[in-house]
Amino acid sequence: MEQYIIKGGNPLVGEVEISGAKNAALGILAAAIMTDDTVLIENLPDVRDINVLLEAMESIGVRVERLTRHAVMLNSAQIGDVRVDYEHIKRIRGSYYLIGALLGKYKRAEVLLPGGCNIGSRPIDLHIKGFKALGAKVTIRNGFIIAKADHLHGSHIFLDTVSVGATINIMTAAAMAEGYTIIENCAREPHVVDVANFLNSMGANIKGAGTDVIRIRGVQRLHRTEYSVIPDQIEAGTFMFAAAATKGDVMVKNVIPKHLEATTAKLLEIGCEVEEFDSAVRVVAAKRLCSTNVKTLPYPGYPTDMQPQIGVTLALARGTSIVTESIFENRFKYMDELARMGADVRVEGNTAIITGVEKLSGACVSAPDLRAGAALVIAALAAEGVTVVDDIVYIQRGYEEFDVKLRSLGAEIEKVSNEKEALKFRLRCG
Ligand code: EPZ
Repeated sequence: MEQYIIKGGNPLVGEVEISGAKNAALGILAAAIMTDDTVLIENLPDVRDINVLLEAMESIGVRVERLTRHAVMLNSAQIGDVRVDYEHIKRIRGSYYLIGALLGKYKRAEVLLPGGCNIGSRPIDLHIKGFKALGAKVTIRNGFIIAKADHLHGSHIFLDTVSVGATINIMTAAAMAEGYTIIENCAREPHVVDVANFLNSMGANIKGAGTDVIRIRGVQRLHRTEYSVIPDQIEAGTFMFAAAATKGDVMVKNVIPKHLEATTAKLLEIGCEVEEFDSAVRVVAAKRLCSTNVKTLPYPGYPTDMQPQIGVTLALARGTSIVTESIFENRFKYMDELARMGADVRVEGNTAIITGVEKLSGACVSAPDLRAGAALVIAALAAEGVTVVDDIVYIQRGYEEFDVKLRSLGAEIEKVSNEKEALKFRLRCG
């Protein structure tokens, strides 16, 4: 089993290129099957979740041609089956986007219920409510979610909770429903906008993505397109906090600074300098950072996917911080791991109380999920001594070459798969 072994203490300095947004790409890849024409998608991140989704798509007859590591050509004219029972699909959340896409195009979908990071209960009742409102019958049988309709029709749908997944999934199916659909209380995340832009580039008629009301006039046919996925704002934010926690100076390139506003605001608040350029942000942390309070909220609020990264940074800041997680109930599992590194943290319900310490020290920790895993790597980079991070398979789901990018910024980090390699690293780093 692979691990990261990290010798902390080096400030991260230099430039890093951000990859395409995983969560946008999942929605876009699924939506790409809705045309029989060939679709080119660029700026795809080369990460596990994306590769699993592509394999699942191949398993139902989608022709997948990888042009480069980050570009893929898809043709879905020969889809032979609307039943997706590719075993590994259970491991990823984004597989649920195939339900909306298959239902929209073929009026029928059977997909293994999605899995994903264990960050709390992750119901899909809102997705189902939306599909039903569009005229589908939805049942769950033998671990599959089965949706069928004689025909899909437009509808007026109010989402009780702001949900990224439900917004994208219902919007995708409605793009090929008959008539007009209005979805209210939508998620406004950049990836919702990116999937809408992608569908529109194939001839869909979607308006309002990025606001809380999305209006869709269904079309009968979608056509070929070439599309480039937006940069990953969570990967970008992760490197921004890595710069902050290690007292570094990092230029984070290939980003849309507007998507990073909530992260930038918090970094400024805790004492970093953040300079914005057209497609880059530079984060400099010259002195010890100070405490703050933060509550996760749907976009444009502070993202839940950036909660662990600020949490570990605040563990080293002067004073006491309060972090409130309002989206997923199980996103503080990394706090126990952080405590092993000497952090002063206490979790009470959906709140973590963090009193900054002068130093963290290396320890053996496990990544409990994708973002928390990345956050523990940040803690390790800032800590004294050597840290081993286990279960990095979670991190690899969403970060492309995390170790390589960090090394290019001066981090001492190595991916190892046995004791001998770990020992070699320890000897080399002294
Ligand atoms: C997406 O998950 C992301 N995943 C998550 O990123 C991200 O944390 C989350 O949005 C919030 O931004 C993908 O895009 C694949 P939601 P999703 O539906 O769509 C409740 C990462 O690290 N809810 O916006 O599953 C739900 O319980 C991952 O990259 C319902 O009640 O999240 C939660 O409290 C982790 N019923 C809230 O809505 C539903 O039917 C928001 O969840 C759906 C959701």
